[in-house]
Amino acid sequence: MAQTDSPRHVLITGASSGIGEALALAYAKPGALLSLTGRDPARLGAVAAACEKRGAQVRQAILDVTDAKATADWAVAADDAQPADLLIANAGISGGTHGGPESAAQTRAVLAVNIDGVVNTVLPLIPHMLARGRGQIALISSLAGHRGFPGAPAYCASKAAVKVWGESLRGELAPRGVKVNVVMPGFVKSRMTDANDFPMPFFMSAEKAAEIIRKGLARDRARIAFPWQTSLLAWTIGMLSPALIDPLLRRLPKKG
Ligand SMILES: NC(=O)c1ccc[n+]([C@@H]2O[C@H](COP(=O)([O-])OP(=O)(O)OC[C@H]3O[C@@H](n4cnc5c(N)ncnc54)[C@H](OP(=O)(O)O)[C@@H]3O)[C@@H](O)[C@H]2O)c1
Repeated sequence: MAQTDSPRHVLITGASSGIGEALALAYAKPGALLSLTGRDPARLGAVAAACEKRGAQVRQAILDVTDAKATADWAVAADDAQPADLLIANAGISGGTHGGPESAAQTRAVLAVNIDGVVNTVLPLIPHMLARGRGQIALISSLAGHRGFPGAPAYCASKAAVKVWGESLRGELAPRGVKVNVVMPGFVKSRMTDANDFPMPFFMSAEKAAEIIRKGLARDRARIAFPWQTSLLAWTIGMLSPALIDPLLRRLPKKG
C-alpha cells in the first residue's frame, strides 16, 4: 500500500496555476503518476512538462469542473489507469464586489466552480476508494471559510461549504479507510491573489503553501490551516458576535 507521504498516484484539479501547480511539482518524482487538470492548455502543458522533468509520469486533461460528467469521466478513467492514492479538489475562482453588490452572474459562477466543482470531483471516486478501503481526499477550502467577509460573499460562502462538507465526509469515511482533509490557506501568491490590490498579511509563496499542505496530508491532519497567525485571526473573527465584529469588517478593504 502506498504511504500517504509518498502517494504513487495523485489527482489534482486546477493544476495549471498557483497552489495546484505547486502541489503538482511537490508530488512530482520518479515513480509518481500525476493526473492533472485545468482549463488552459498552455499553462497545464507547462506544468506537466516541469513535473515530467522531475521524473513523474503525467496524464493531462483539459476540463471544466462544473461539467459533472466530464469531471467524473476524468476521475474514473484516471483511477482505472492506476488506483488513486490522493485526490486534491483544488480548482477554484474568486471575485470581489467591485464596490457594489456582487452580481448574480458572479455569485452563481463562484458557487458553481467552488462548490459544485468540488462535489463533481470528489463524489465519483468515493465508491472506488471505499471498495479498496483506502485513499485520501483533500478539499481546498480557505481561511475565508471561517466567516463571511463583506468583500467576497460568494467566495466565503463557497469555502465555508467546502470546509463543512469535508469535515462531515471525514467522519463518515474514516471508519472505512478513506481519509478526508480540509485545507484552509491564508493569502498565497497565485493568479488569484495577483488581482488583490490591498495588503495581504503573512503572504506566502505557493511553493511554501504546497509544502505545508503536503506535510499536513502525510500526517492526515483533519484541518490544514495556515499560516497560524492569519488562521488564529480568522478563527477568532468567526467566533465573535456579529454585533461586535460587523462594524469592523465593514471597514476592511474590499476585493476588487
Ligand atoms: N491564493 C490564495 O491566497 C488562496 C487562499 C485560500 C484558498 N485558495 C484556494 O486555492 C485554490 C487554488 O487557487 P489559486 O490561488 O492557486 O488560484 P489560481 O492560480 O487562479 O489557480 C486556480 C486554478 O483553478 C483552475 N480553475 C478555475 N476554474 C476552473 C474550472 N471551472 N474548471 C477547472 N479548473 C478551473 C484554474 O485553471 P486555469 O489555469 O485554466 O484557469 C487554475 O488551475 C482555489 O480553490 C482557491 O480558492 C487560494
